Amino acid sequence: AQIKMGSYSHFMQKEIFEQPESVVNTMRGRINFDDGRVLLGGLKSQLANIRRSRRIIFSACGTSYHSCVATKSLFAELTELPINVELSSAFLDEQLPVFRDDVCIFVSQSGETKDTLLALQYCKERGALCLGVTNTVGSTISRDTHCGVHINAGPELSVASTKAYTSQFIALTLIALQLSDDNYAKANRRREIIKGLQSLSSNIKKVLSLDGEIKDLAVKHKDITNLILLGRGYHSATCLEGALKIKEVSYIHAEGILAGELKHGPLALIDKDMPIILMMNKDKHYVDVENAYAQVTARSGNPILICNDDDNSQVIAASQKIRVPGTVDALQGIVNIIALQVFSYHIAVARGINPDTPRNLAKSVTTA
Ligand code: G6P
Repeated sequence: AQIKMGSYSHFMQKEIFEQPESVVNTMRGRINFDDGRVLLGGLKSQLANIRRSRRIIFSACGTSYHSCVATKSLFAELTELPINVELSSAFLDEQLPVFRDDVCIFVSQSGETKDTLLALQYCKERGALCLGVTNTVGSTISRDTHCGVHINAGPELSVASTKAYTSQFIALTLIALQLSDDNYAKANRRREIIKGLQSLSSNIKKVLSLDGEIKDLAVKHKDITNLILLGRGYHSATCLEGALKIKEVSYIHAEGILAGELKHGPLALIDKDMPIILMMNKDKHYVDVENAYAQVTARSGNPILICNDDDNSQVIAASQKIRVPGTVDALQGIVNIIALQVFSYHIAVARGINPDTPRNLAKSVTTA
């Protein structure tokens, strides 16, 4: 059936605004909020084998790669396994060693990306257990893997991926939760994350209600030529993904930088003409990000903060900001990326670009 845009101006906007529902669809029937258990039917047959593995390797491209980066540390924390996250193309270039006791997870919205398919073939030949995480039932990746999880985000038409990212993020979080549910020592941590998942939809709605405010900020910055996104820890992925969105639909040169690397080079780029978006959420890196803020403002940089809506610090009072609801650290990236998706959408439109048809890009890249 043909998908209509309804009251939205672009598919990108429609898909961004669908997220309060699409995230629920990813979780539907998979979490028991009473006993805090996660059950992914698609993994059932291989669960014991996955738990016996020695290492988990993720392989993906573009936005899908960022969802792996976003959940990497939670996977390591909950499964206590070494985790590698690889770009599919680099994986093959480097001919990385893969063994029979590795579990390889291939994440792809379309399930047809050539580089990821080639990485899958490579890992299968080496005897690894291969999982697919896709949004497309019947896609090559979902058929060719040993087992997997569909993210159930619904069809995504906009070239710039939005709702698939948040649903991949959740699906990967669910896999990590399920893999660790025999580990009693992690029960409190799992409960905290499941509670965060339960309120995610309403938190996303709160960010979407800031549309007008975020649009004003985007219009104000529509003529910028460069943008840095800075964050630490869980927000490394948010910065990479936010920068990718901005590049894809507005053609502004945007770079996601881990705040810890600021002093190792990027600081040279900061002057009064450089806008910098900082992820300043209340987590264990708060002080580090405050420090980065001080470094940036000391060089007359132009900061925009993404911060918690209950944070009334002086730094925040004195700055341009988007105030988002706080949630558990491992899920804050979902809340923050919604603000960046809305920002990139409006900056594209303000620059006269149709975000649904960015130049030179394709929704699905089926050549290597
Ligand atoms: C293309 C699209 C991106 C997407 C990437 C990976 O580059 O333009 O939006 O993230 O492919 O696609 P996949 O379908 O494998 O997630």
